[in-house]
Amino acid sequence: MTISLESEHVALARRCASAAVAVPLISFQNVSKVFKSGDKSLVAVEDLTLSIRTGEFVTLVGPSGCGKSTLLNMTAGLMKPTTGVVSYAGVPVNGINRRVGYMTQSDHLLPWRSIAGNISVPLEIQRMKAAARKRRVQELIDLVGLSGFETSYPSQVSGGMRKRAALARLLASDPETLLMDEPFAALDAQLRLAMQAELRKVCTGLEKTVIFVTHDPDEAISLADRCFVFSGRPGRIREVIETGLPANRNLAHLRVDPRFTELSHQLWETLTPDLRPAGAGA
Ligand SMILES: Nc1ncnc2c1ncn2[C@@H]1O[C@H](COP(=O)(O)OP(=O)(O)OP(=O)(O)O)[C@@H](O)[C@H]1O
Ligand SMILES: [Mg+2]
Repeated sequence: MTISLESEHVALARRCASAAVAVPLISFQNVSKVFKSGDKSLVAVEDLTLSIRTGEFVTLVGPSGCGKSTLLNMTAGLMKPTTGVVSYAGVPVNGINRRVGYMTQSDHLLPWRSIAGNISVPLEIQRMKAAARKRRVQELIDLVGLSGFETSYPSQVSGGMRKRAALARLLASDPETLLMDEPFAALDAQLRLAMQAELRKVCTGLEKTVIFVTHDPDEAISLADRCFVFSGRPGRIREVIETGLPANRNLAHLRVDPRFTELSHQLWETLTPDLRPAGAGA
C-alpha cells in the first residue's frame, strides 16, 4: 500500500513537472497594438498568437514597420498591448519585465562612461566585487573583439563597435531571456559570423531563451530554432519555419548545407510578396 501511494505521488509529481514544462515561457494571445495620435490610429500588429519555449532561439523577420520592435517592447513590458495578453512564465506582463535583457535598435550607451565602464554597469548593479567585475568586463571585451578600446568613449568608436559594446553589456547582465533588435546589423561579414557563432554557443550552453530580430534572411535561418516570418503592417505571422538545425551547428559550414539552402529558399518565397515594388500587382 505504502509503495503504491508512493508511486502515485511520484506519478503526480511527474505530471506536475511536465505540466510546468508545457507552460510556454513567452506567450502572446490574440495581441493587437494600435498607436493613436490625434484622430489617427495605426495598427502596428494584429491578432498575434504565438508561444516560445524556454531555451528556444527564435528569430523574427519581416518588412520594416511590421511591428517586430513593438513585439519586443511588449515582451519587455515597455508597452502594453491594446487588446490581448502577453504573458511571461504564465503571468501577464504588467510593467517592466525584469527577467529579460533588451538590446534595442539604438545602443543606449552612456556617453560619459568608457566602453569598459558601460559594460560594467549591470555588474555594478549586481554588486559584484571590484576584482571579479574587472575580470568579467575584460572577458566580455575580449569576447566581442573590443580589446584595446576599454578606455575609449562611445563617441570615439565606430557604430559596429558600439553595437558590440552593447552586446557585451547585455551578456554582462546575464538575463534569462535575451531580446535582441538587429544587434549585428552594423557589423562586417566576418565579425557578424563570429558574433553569431558566439551568441549561439553562449545561449545554447546556458539555455538562454532568445528573440532575435533581423532583416537578413540568412541570419534569420542560420541562428533560429524557429523563424517567425511577418507580413507587412499590420504585422501578422505569415509563416513559422522550424529549422530542425542542430543546436551545436557550425555556422561557417551551414551555408553549403543543402538543408540550409532549402530553408533559405522557403523563407525567400514567403518574403517575396513584400519585396515586390508597390503597384507591381499580385
Ligand atoms: N511609440 C510609437 N508611437 C507611434 N507609432 C509607433 C510607435 N512605435 C512604433 N510605431 C509604429 O508602429 C509600426 C511598427 O513599428 P516597429 O518599430 O515595431 O516596426 P519594426 O518591424 O521594428 O520596423 P523596423 O524593421 O524598421 O525596425 C510602425 O509603423 C511605427 O511607425
Ligand atoms: Mg524595429
